[in-house]
Amino acid sequence: MSVRFGGGRDRVRLRGRVTPPSDKSISHRAAIVGAMCEAPVAIAGYLDAADTRSTLQAMRRLGASVQGRDGELVIRGVGAAGPRCDEVLDVGNAGTLMRLLPGWLASVAGRSFALDGDASIRRRPVDRIALPLRAMGARVDARGGRFPPFTVLGAQLAGLDYELPVASAQVKSCVLLAGLATDVTTVREAVASRDHTERMLLAAGAPVGRRRLRDGGWVSSVGRAGELALDRIVVPADLSSAAFLITAAVLLPGAEVTLTGVGVNWTRSGFLEILRRMGARVGGELEPPGTFAAAEPICDLEVAHGALTGTEVGADEVPLAIDELPLVALLGCFAEGETVVRGAAELRVKESDRIATVVDGLRGLGADIEALPDGFAVRAAGGLRGGRLDAHGDHRLALLGAVAGLASQDGVEVIGMEAAAVSYPGFADDLRALSH
Ligand code: S3P
Repeated sequence: MSVRFGGGRDRVRLRGRVTPPSDKSISHRAAIVGAMCEAPVAIAGYLDAADTRSTLQAMRRLGASVQGRDGELVIRGVGAAGPRCDEVLDVGNAGTLMRLLPGWLASVAGRSFALDGDASIRRRPVDRIALPLRAMGARVDARGGRFPPFTVLGAQLAGLDYELPVASAQVKSCVLLAGLATDVTTVREAVASRDHTERMLLAAGAPVGRRRLRDGGWVSSVGRAGELALDRIVVPADLSSAAFLITAAVLLPGAEVTLTGVGVNWTRSGFLEILRRMGARVGGELEPPGTFAAAEPICDLEVAHGALTGTEVGADEVPLAIDELPLVALLGCFAEGETVVRGAAELRVKESDRIATVVDGLRGLGADIEALPDGFAVRAAGGLRGGRLDAHGDHRLALLGAVAGLASQDGVEVIGMEAAAVSYPGFADDLRALSH
């Protein structure tokens, strides 16, 4: 499906308030942790999108029941030792499900599980979780040792002290979920990555610790958990989805937009810090860096159009803004000077190779942008001309194309806009609600 954005004679003016869709990362975790509990868990604001539907379906396949009640979901889980499934679990397009779920399943001694997904998932590495799970005692196998389908035979796991070779909250979360069945398991990371798993497990009564190391890194630890229990999880709005509307508001003259109830966990809100550094007008109280608590902080973000200057983003900031880096490239096209992102080679193993697809996509719209092995460099081009952008089946690329279109001179036709349904099915509705 191709959809055109922008390019009309009159530019839209974005005004008003919307609540962006619920957080995808936290929704995946809520379903998995909910299924690990025995007592029912209510989830308010579970994201209704393709990726998170895959997770609910997988939890049902493992024996959990999922029902809607008063606009919330209620999961009746199977307990940490209870999952079983003889069929292949289909993760669809969801990398988070593919990487997190095996952590739990690896601890279910004597049972085997198989996971597979769509064409994009089959190109994304899982050796990064196979390695630590094997070291803990599980038997795991992947196609060519690297890619899905992925099989795991659960075992009595041994604790692990693991140093992450790549900055990845998914790998960290996988090891921590497995670690709930060990005396102690620790995961060290050179740079902080999102800590939603740690926060949710803490809220569920698991022994979880997280502290900053002297060299600036972080360590998370878990130990043997008794029965996990959580009455209710409230999922905030997703900053990564909000980021598309935020970018549109920053780039479109006359815009004044409020995005309500957005999750601003400091391990996720690096994009807002980058924006502020570029000179954007973004109001709202963010969580102080370094905080660790069970709760997920939320705030209303007030965003207005304004001029931008280029900036540099380095490895320390990358995990805090990993999914928003394509938008930094787009903002760079409208900023004065140069905008450079480095230390972000992980972008190459996302839903698409996001260094290649973003650079090719924006260049086709008139950007002066160059790919680096681990990022990109954008020079001021005074905006974008417009044209066609192929989403390559990547939801964030489709949404990037839409926002680029609104801000461009001639508009952008996004090829494959349906990919947006993976995380933000209501994007066009939210845009319409704000357009005047
Ligand atoms: C996610 C972590 C990030 C992010 C992904 C969601 C998560 O991946 O890109 O969209 O929910 O833990 P990595 O941790 O592998 O970088």
